[in-house]
Amino acid sequence: MLRRQALRAAGTALAACALPLACAAQAPDLNLAILAGNCVTCHGPGGQPPAGSAIPALRGQSSAALLERMQAFRAGQVADATVMPLLMQGYDAAQMQALADWFAAPQALADRP
Ligand code: HEC
Repeated sequence: MLRRQALRAAGTALAACALPLACAAQAPDLNLAILAGNCVTCHGPGGQPPAGSAIPALRGQSSAALLERMQAFRAGQVADATVMPLLMQGYDAAQMQALADWFAAPQALADRP
């Protein structure tokens, strides 16, 4: 909980490394807490935005559905999109797959940013 608040306050996931165990458990080149921290600033903690938000929830969607959307944004195939097409240019295929898995995992809301 403290960790989640710290992430929101900082606006990035850099604070995730304040917990050494959380960082040590992740591969240095695919630190999901840092990657996902860039998403939860808009999509809400664990991918669940506040009620009434115009930003869609990532929580509750399957990994396959999330990945498909991310790939479509990256390829410029979502006509009415605003920020996501540009944002997805910064993520490679492995990172998108990892993010899709991470937001689809049921435990993400409880113990992750
Ligand atoms: C600046 C705010 C912002 C950030 C940061 C952001 N998103 Fe989004 N996201 C949006 C908006 C707004 C939409 C609706 C599509 C659009 O307008 O581009 C969206 C849509 C999506 C969708 C489609 C959901 C659906 O049900 O249609 C996915 C998947 C998604 N984002 C994943 C991510 C991931 C993964 C990250 C982090 C790498 C991320 N987003 C970061 C604002 C953001």
